[in-house]
Amino acid sequence: MIPTENECYALMDQYQMLDNIREHSMVVAETVKAISSGLVHSGIKISVSKAVAGALLHDIAKTQCIQSGGDHASVGREICLQHQFDEIADIVGEHVWLKDYSLDSVYSEKEVVYYADKRILHTSVVTLAERMHDIIERYGRNDSRLAERVRMNFTVCKGVEKKLFSQLDFRPEDLARMIV
Ligand SMILES: [Fe+2]
Repeated sequence: MIPTENECYALMDQYQMLDNIREHSMVVAETVKAISSGLVHSGIKISVSKAVAGALLHDIAKTQCIQSGGDHASVGREICLQHQFDEIADIVGEHVWLKDYSLDSVYSEKEVVYYADKRILHTSVVTLAERMHDIIERYGRNDSRLAERVRMNFTVCKGVEKKLFSQLDFRPEDLARMIV
């Protein structure tokens, strides 16, 4: 099932999500709401509530993985499955890297969450390039292979941006004034 927004907040409490991660998740959810509603408006079959729930819970495992290690996307996917939130498990599991992805695929909620997360640095709307530099600075500084993977991931994300905005009546740079 798809969790309601209240169920998402209850799960954040249960997994003791740090305040800054909760605030980030709420801004990502707002961004996801704007993009997915725009896609629905253009006649694309996508579920706004599913995308928003996925956004609220995309970092559900981050606090515990910061403390005790692990891949927060896969652990988050497992948490969703444990709570019978199967519909959003893959959104959470693929919010960092999309698996077996093709730009020709039908529009999906996971693309929207994957993209929106990369436009929000903490709680601010930034460009993909700004977010990429931040990630490389934080995680890829002494790891050139990881930095290269991050660059490749952002090339994919640039394609997702183009795909999403080909159907929207606002531009990527308009998000900053739409999200408060
Ligand atoms: Fe994350």
